[in-house]
Amino acid sequence: MIARHLLSIESLSREEIFSMVDAAGVMKATRGLDVRGPLRGQCWALMFLKSSTRTRVSFEVGIRELGGSVMFLAADDIQLGRGEPIKDTARVMGRMLHGVVIRTFAQRDVEDFAAYSGIPTINALTDEEHPCQILADLFTIQESGRDLSRLKVAFIGDGDCNVARSWIWAAARCGFDLRIASPKKFFPPEGLVERAGGNIRLETDARTAAQGADVLYTDVWVSMGKEEESAFRMAQFQGFQIDASLLAVAPEALVMHCLPAYRDKEISEAVFEAHAGTIFRQAENRLHAQKAVLTRIATRKITG
Ligand code: CP
Ligand code: NVA
Repeated sequence: MIARHLLSIESLSREEIFSMVDAAGVMKATRGLDVRGPLRGQCWALMFLKSSTRTRVSFEVGIRELGGSVMFLAADDIQLGRGEPIKDTARVMGRMLHGVVIRTFAQRDVEDFAAYSGIPTINALTDEEHPCQILADLFTIQESGRDLSRLKVAFIGDGDCNVARSWIWAAARCGFDLRIASPKKFFPPEGLVERAGGNIRLETDARTAAQGADVLYTDVWVSMGKEEESAFRMAQFQGFQIDASLLAVAPEALVMHCLPAYRDKEISEAVFEAHAGTIFRQAENRLHAQKAVLTRIATRKITG
């Protein structure tokens, strides 16, 4: 529920998604002009158990721009890293902070944190979802003049990763077509596409998925936490690169990448640089979209 937390795209309604995307546009257009400071007097924490450049910087800047203050907590700096349970960490933080942004492994951990802390909780990436990324991406697509409810999005690469899974929920909720091209071993988990509903097709051929797409999207082949599988994944994903020959079957497509990008792995150097304008606008839009989310869920209530 966006009213209190942002834990997943799955938990959002179509109306909530569309309204957050519109609000991101307002944030972008009014950056530096908005003096309401909805987070004035609030202290938020970013609790990250995985690396981050974009998410960390955009949340730190966004919270400050909205009038709040922010602290960064790496797992190893806090007792969580030495085994203190998430529900105890949540009950401590809930009594001191006004909100928490969490990047971790299990989706269950952000859900437990939200339940036990009683303060607004934002999922900044788990193994299952990356909702902040997808809200910024939808805004970027809308900003390019495309109609979100009539899109054909082709996701090429690891269909089992967090970003692909959030795309599945976005497609189901917004009502656009999504095709995911992956080796079968990296299809989304059994039953997820059926549970989401909507118009989603899984393909093992990248060209079939990309044909006529409005958006060609990719993400890393080796997500954080999967490093031990690197060599296996590199071999499996051959043929799933966004390159000039793939772009030829979707010449009008917006080429998108959530970043970080690994050149000549999931995307060719030439295509990446030719579409860097879109890709880095996508990165910038994380700031605007997350400011919209923060403004929506900001609350002055502290438990305890
Ligand atoms: N796209 C994204 O979430 O980037 P970071 O891992 O750098 O935050
Ligand atoms: N799927 C990637 C996204 C990085 C922003 C990962 O989890 O590492």
